[in-house]
Amino acid sequence: MTSGTTVVILAAGKGTRMKSETPKCLHELCGRSMLGWVLGAAEGLSPDRIVVVVGHGAAEVEAAARRELPGVDLQFVLQEPQLGTGHALQVAAPALGDTERVVVTYGDMPLLSTESMQSLVDAQMGAGAPGAVSILTAIIDDPTGYGRIIRREDGSFERIVEHKDASEEERMVNETNLGVYCFDRGTLDGDLERLDNNNAQGEYYITDLVGMADAGGRPVLPLVLEDAGEAQGVNDLGQLAEVRWQVQMRILEQHMAAGVRIMDPATTFIDHGVEIGCGTEILPCTVIRSGVKVGEGCEVGPFTHLRAGAVLEDTAEVGNFTEMKNSTLGSGSKAKHLSYLGDTRIGAKANIGAGTIFANYDGKEKHPTTVGDGAFIGSGSIVVAPNVVPPAATTGAGAVITRSAEMQEGETWVGMPARKLSPKS
Ligand code: UD1
Ligand code: CA
Repeated sequence: MTSGTTVVILAAGKGTRMKSETPKCLHELCGRSMLGWVLGAAEGLSPDRIVVVVGHGAAEVEAAARRELPGVDLQFVLQEPQLGTGHALQVAAPALGDTERVVVTYGDMPLLSTESMQSLVDAQMGAGAPGAVSILTAIIDDPTGYGRIIRREDGSFERIVEHKDASEEERMVNETNLGVYCFDRGTLDGDLERLDNNNAQGEYYITDLVGMADAGGRPVLPLVLEDAGEAQGVNDLGQLAEVRWQVQMRILEQHMAAGVRIMDPATTFIDHGVEIGCGTEILPCTVIRSGVKVGEGCEVGPFTHLRAGAVLEDTAEVGNFTEMKNSTLGSGSKAKHLSYLGDTRIGAKANIGAGTIFANYDGKEKHPTTVGDGAFIGSGSIVVAPNVVPPAATTGAGAVITRSAEMQEGETWVGMPARKLSPKS
C-alpha cells in the first residue's frame, strides 16, 4: 500500500546571505538541521519516496539527510549548475518513479508542517481531475521578493508572477506564492519539457508549470495557509534565529502538553530528540541538548546544562551550574550545585556535593567513573577517572580521589590525595 505521494525537496541553493561555508539547509535549529525538520515534516505524509535536489555541498547534505532519516529510502539528485526552481524539478523528474502526485517544497522552509502539506495533497486529490495542481499561498504584509498570486475577478487563480517580472500594480498584491505545490504525476513530465527561461531572471521557473495547468483548462487550487508564519524561509542568520525561536516554542509546548513543567519558556532551551517524563520540572536558564533522557518527577535547573547521553532516572535532581555529559544520575540522586558529571554512572540515592568534578579527561582520552547507590560525595571533591566509588562510600570535603584509590563499600576517604579515614577506635 503506497500513499501515492512523492515529496521533492529543493535544497541545491547556496545561501550566500548566510555568510557561512555551511550549506544553507544544514544550519541548525534546536539540535536538528533545517533540512532535518523539512525531512521530518515530509516523512509525516508517509510518502512513496522523498527526493532531495542537492547542489552546493551535495555530499555533506546527502550524508546529513541520511543520518536524519536512517530507515527511509531517500533519493538524491545533483543539480549542477542551478538554473532555477523549474530546472531543479526537471533534474528530479527521473527519480520520481511510480507515484500519483508530487509535492515540492524547500529545504530552507523548516516551519512548514505535515498538516499543511497534507491539506495541499487533499486539495489536489479533491479536484478529481487529471492534471490538477494545488499551491500553498499566504497573505504577507511585506511581499517584496515573492511571486504574487494573480486572481481573476471571480477569485479563481489566474497566474503567478515573479516579483522581478511583476508590474507596479501586480506588486501591490500581497497574496504570495510560497513555492510549495502538489502536481499530478501524469502531466508533469510533459509540462516540464515545455518549460523555458524567457523571463527577467533567465531561469526555468517552476511557477510556469502552474500557468500551464491553468492554460490547459486543468484546475489550479490555491490554498491559503492559515498560519503564514509556517512559510517563513531562512535566508540569513537573523531569520535563522527567528525561526529557531518558533521551533523552540513548538518543542517546549509538546513537553508541556505531556506534563512537563517549564517555569520560564523564554529561557529554556530544549533540543529536538529529548525525552522528559511527566511531572518533571525544568527551572529557568537551562539548556538540554539532543540525546538526553529525563525521567519522571525530576528537577532540572536553574542554570543546568545537559548534554548528549545525560540520563536522569526518575526523581533525580540536577541543579544550578551543573553540567552532565554521557552520564547517568540514578533514581533519587542529587547533584544540585556547581558540578561536572562526565562519563559517570551514578546509582540511586547518591548525593553529589557542591563543586564536585568527575575528571574524565586526561588530556588524551575520556575515562568512566562509577558511583554506587547511596554514596555521599563531599563538597569540592575531585574523582579522577577511571574510578569507582562503591555504594555507601563517603568522600570528605575537598577530597581528591586518585586513580590508585581503592575505596571499599561504606568507607570514608579524605584529603589530597585521598586516603582511607580509619574508623575511630
Ligand atoms: C521562488 C518562487 C516564488 C516564491 C518563492 C518563495 C520560482 C520561479 N519562484 O522564488 O514565486 O514566492 O520561491 O520563496 O520558483 N533552488 C534549487 N535550485 C535552483 C533554484 C532554487 O534547488 O536552481 C532551491 C533553493 O535552494 C531554495 C528554493 O529552491 O531552497 C527557492 O529558491 P529561491 O531562489 O529562493 O526562490 P525564488 O526563485 O526566489
Ligand atoms: Ca528567494
